[in-house]
Amino acid sequence: MAYAEETLQTYDLLAPTTMADRHALFAKMRSEPGLCRVEPFGAYTAARYEDVAAILKDPQRFSSEALAVITEPPWLGPNPIARSILSMDPPRHPPHRALLSRVFGPAGMARLEARVRMESEALAEAAVRRGEVELVDAFCFVLPRNIIGSMLGLEPSTFLEFKRWAHAMGMVPSATTPEQHAEIRAVVREMKGYLTEVIEARRRRLGEDMVSDLLRAEVDGQKLSDEHILSFLFLLLPAGMETTTQLLGNSALTLAQNSEHLERMRANNAYIARFIEEVLRYDPPVQLGFRIAMQDVELSGTKVPAGSLVLGLVGSANRDERMFEQPDRFLPGRDKGSQHLSFGYGIHFCLGAQLARMEARLGLEALVSRVSGIRLRSPEIQWLPGLMIHGPAELPVELVPV
Ligand code: HEM
Repeated sequence: MAYAEETLQTYDLLAPTTMADRHALFAKMRSEPGLCRVEPFGAYTAARYEDVAAILKDPQRFSSEALAVITEPPWLGPNPIARSILSMDPPRHPPHRALLSRVFGPAGMARLEARVRMESEALAEAAVRRGEVELVDAFCFVLPRNIIGSMLGLEPSTFLEFKRWAHAMGMVPSATTPEQHAEIRAVVREMKGYLTEVIEARRRRLGEDMVSDLLRAEVDGQKLSDEHILSFLFLLLPAGMETTTQLLGNSALTLAQNSEHLERMRANNAYIARFIEEVLRYDPPVQLGFRIAMQDVELSGTKVPAGSLVLGLVGSANRDERMFEQPDRFLPGRDKGSQHLSFGYGIHFCLGAQLARMEARLGLEALVSRVSGIRLRSPEIQWLPGLMIHGPAELPVELVPV
């Protein structure tokens, strides 16, 4: 049976009640017979695992060019991220993906491991020595920032604005006020200026970094244009920082709220990888994926007209009771635990997934080997605004040394 447009429930994802308890709303949406409509965008929205996976894995029916619609709203104008690999469909996507895959493949990750370990140890040591710290700034953000910065060959003294930039880019789909719009416009201008200078400097003198690799690379026998490289960097810089920051932040918060996990990690390093996988499922840093219907399609009985914006709620899919037993319980090592959709699904599956997992694993290893407890200094958790990126905005904690 197909559900007609007028029978679909509409939900407001930006309403304060949604933000306060998104899982109650997601559960309600999963229990609807078909898809739902949501504000913002009036998008057709899938909340069940099977439907979210179906949308993410099928570029023939659901195009990633939706990213251009989402990241270039009329109030913003041209945004290079809209032309990045993330918004490409086949046949353009595979050759660009192959190019980047070389860097993110097993050999590239093995080369990076020593660097990630060294950074993790140094940052954990400094944070524990200070005792009382704001952990997002002192650890969760700087670790991935330093790693992506060195992968791109960027000068550490230029990292100052990166946090503001990464936040602003993650806010584009949910920015509503004129102040937020103005801030994001300014950030796009600043990032364009900074990254254009990086490309120009590297063109004058190639090195052993990803920007130089992109300048040397060819796709279908042609060099990439500067505009193209800029769009890659516009994706990679925030993607390399903001998401992994939230994975580390959500992990640290879980450890602070339940010290049993910390003890189990200290007793057995292997528990860390299982714990990280469960944090990814339970609290995915990226909560949604966007697509555009390329033709009239029917999903779970709902007719979606060609050209409609379609949204897959990853945060809901990961808590779907049809897929995961007792989905609202945090159970590292659970059955099907790595089948969450937090890194996407199909051809756009996150290229940085192994890097993110490695940063989280080595970061937590360095931290938990030095502390016997993480105490929150405030019971109130201040979450990041917006619906796209999920994690604590700050984590004032006391680190209790071993
Ligand atoms: C916990 C950390 C991370 C999470 C949760 C995450 C999440 C995601 C998701 C959900 C997608 C697919 C989006 C879609 O299908 O529309 C994606 C794609 C991507 N991610 Fe990540 N990401 C993380 C870390 C990273 C890192 C560290 C990097 C790079 C340094 C990175 C680079 C990319 C790239 C280049 C793509 C596009 C792949 C393609 O279009 O083929 N990500 N990521």
